[in-house]
Amino acid sequence: MPDDFPLQSQTPDALMLFGFWYRALPATQLRSGELTKTMLLEQPLVIGRDSQGQAFALRDACPHRGMPLSCGQFDGQQIECSYHGWRFDAHTGQCQLIPSLVSDQNLKIDRIYAGSYPCEERDDFVWVFIPDPGPAGAGFPKRAPAPMPAPEIPKFSEHYKHAYLTADLPCSVDHSIIGLMDPAHGPFVHQAWWWRTQKSIHEKRKNFEPIPYGFRMSAHTPSSNSAPYKLLRLYADADSISTTIDFVLPNLRSEVIRAGKYWFSSLTTVTPITRDQCRIDVVAAWNLFRWIPFGPQLLKFVFAKFVEQDRRTMELQSEGLKHNPHLMLIDDADRPAKWYFGLKNALLEVKKNGGEFRHPMTGPVTLRWRS
Ligand code: FES
Ligand SMILES: [Fe+2]
Repeated sequence: MPDDFPLQSQTPDALMLFGFWYRALPATQLRSGELTKTMLLEQPLVIGRDSQGQAFALRDACPHRGMPLSCGQFDGQQIECSYHGWRFDAHTGQCQLIPSLVSDQNLKIDRIYAGSYPCEERDDFVWVFIPDPGPAGAGFPKRAPAPMPAPEIPKFSEHYKHAYLTADLPCSVDHSIIGLMDPAHGPFVHQAWWWRTQKSIHEKRKNFEPIPYGFRMSAHTPSSNSAPYKLLRLYADADSISTTIDFVLPNLRSEVIRAGKYWFSSLTTVTPITRDQCRIDVVAAWNLFRWIPFGPQLLKFVFAKFVEQDRRTMELQSEGLKHNPHLMLIDDADRPAKWYFGLKNALLEVKKNGGEFRHPMTGPVTLRWRS
C-alpha cells in the first residue's frame, strides 16, 4: 500500500464487512417472549428471546410480502405475521403455517424461510452473524451455521466482575474505528484534572506486530501518565504490569492488562448500523478493585466520560465531513489507521477476486509519536 494512500476514497461511502459477528444489543434489553427491532449493516432485524430464554435473530421482513415480522404476534416459539398470518419458527425462520391454503393446495411450506441469522449471547450482549448477502432478488434459503464462534472477552480467573457501556456515534464505521485507534487525540479530547493535561504530552515509542486479520501493540508497560497504570501500581510492581492491545477485523479492539494475578480486560466494538451511523460498545471484565468501595461504578464513570468525549468529537467531526473535505493520514500517528484501511482492502479484495489475504504489514514495526 503506498504511503500517500488517499483517505478520501474510503470515507464518503464506507463499505461494511459482511461475514462477521456483530454486537446487536445488550442482553438485558431482551426479555423472554419479547421482540425488538434493530438494524445492523443496513439490514433490518427483529431480535427476540424464546420461552426458554434463547435469543434469536430474523430479518425483519416477511418473505411473503415484506411486512415487518416485528409487528407480528410471538408466542415464545413462532412468529405470526400480522398481514396474512403466516407462521415462522423463531430460530430457523422456517415457515410452519400458511392459513389461506385449502387442503388440496400442496405448496411445500417447509421450503419457505424468513431470513434468519446465527445468534449468540456473550458477555452481556446478543451477537448476530451477518453473512455475505445472497444473490439479489432471491429468497432466503435455510440458514448456514456461522463459520466461527462469536468473539469473547479473554478472562483469566474464575471470579470476576463485568460491565458495559454503549453510545451511538453519528459517523461512518471507518471514522469511528480510526478515531478509536488514534493515539494523538488523547491530550486534546480526553483532558480532565484527574486524568491528564496537555502538559503531560511526551514522546512515545510502541512496537506493533501483524496478527491474523489485524495488528497488535506488543505487550508493554502502560504509559506512566495513564489512569490504568496509576491504579495498577497499587497492586503490583511497575515491571510486572503489562498491557496488550489488539485490533482485528472487522471492528474488534481488545485490551488486556495484567499485573500478577490481577487482570483487566476489555473488548470494544464499533458496529455499523447504516453507512453513516454506528454504535460503540465497550464491555470490560476484571478481578481488580475488590477492596475499593464503588470500584466498578468508578470505572464505569471513567469509561463513560471517555466514550462521551469521543462521541462528542465525532458529532462535531461529522459536521466538518458533510462537505467532503480533503483528508490526510500522517506518519507515525495515523499508521494504525492506514493498516486498518489496508486490512479492510485486503479482505474486500479476497472476497471479490479470491486468492490469499495480503496483510498490509510485513513484520514488526516501531511507531513513534507525541501524546
Ligand atoms: S406479508 Fe407476511 S403473511 Fe403476508
Ligand atoms: Fe478517544
